Amino acid sequence: MAINVLSNRLSVASDATGLSHVAINAAFLQEIKDIHVELWGSLQEIRSMCRAVDQAAHWQFRLVMAFEELRDLFAMHFALEEGFGYFENPAFVDLDISRRANELRSDHKALYCEICEICEWIDEARFQGQLSAKRSSVSLRFESFLDQFRIHESREQELIYDSFCHDLGTGD
Ligand SMILES: [Fe+2]
Repeated sequence: MAINVLSNRLSVASDATGLSHVAINAAFLQEIKDIHVELWGSLQEIRSMCRAVDQAAHWQFRLVMAFEELRDLFAMHFALEEGFGYFENPAFVDLDISRRANELRSDHKALYCEICEICEWIDEARFQGQLSAKRSSVSLRFESFLDQFRIHESREQELIYDSFCHDLGTGD
C-alpha cells in the first residue's frame, strides 16, 4: 500500500510523454465556479431564448448578442480557471490527478472553439435571414454544447473532490 502511494507521487517536472505535470488548487477552482453566476445566468437565458415563440428581428439580434456575451463569459471563466485553479510542476503530484487535470484543462480550448464557431454560425445565419428557419438547429447545437460542458464540469467537480481527499490524506 505504502509503495503504491509513493509510486503514485513524483517530484519530477514531466512524465515519459513529455507532458508537464498539472495539479489544481481545489479551493480556488471551486470558488471560481461558485462566484461566476453571470455565466450560469447567461446559459439559462439562452436556453429560454431558444425556446421563445417570438422570433422578430430584435429577437434574432438579441440572440446573437446573448451568444457573443456567453462566448466572452466563457473566455473569462476558462482564463480564471487556468490562471488560478490549475498550476504546473507541483512539488509533489498524484499521477492520476495530473493526467485528469491535463485532460480537463485541454477541454477548455475545445469548448471555447465550439462556442466561437456557434457564434459565427448564428451571426452568419442572421445576416442571411435564415436564423428563424434554423431555430431548431441552433437549439440542438447549443444543447449539444451544453452536454459537453456539463460532462466537463462533472469531471472537474470529481477532480476537485478527489484532490481535496488526496490533500487530506484520505484519497489513497
Ligand atoms: Fe473547467
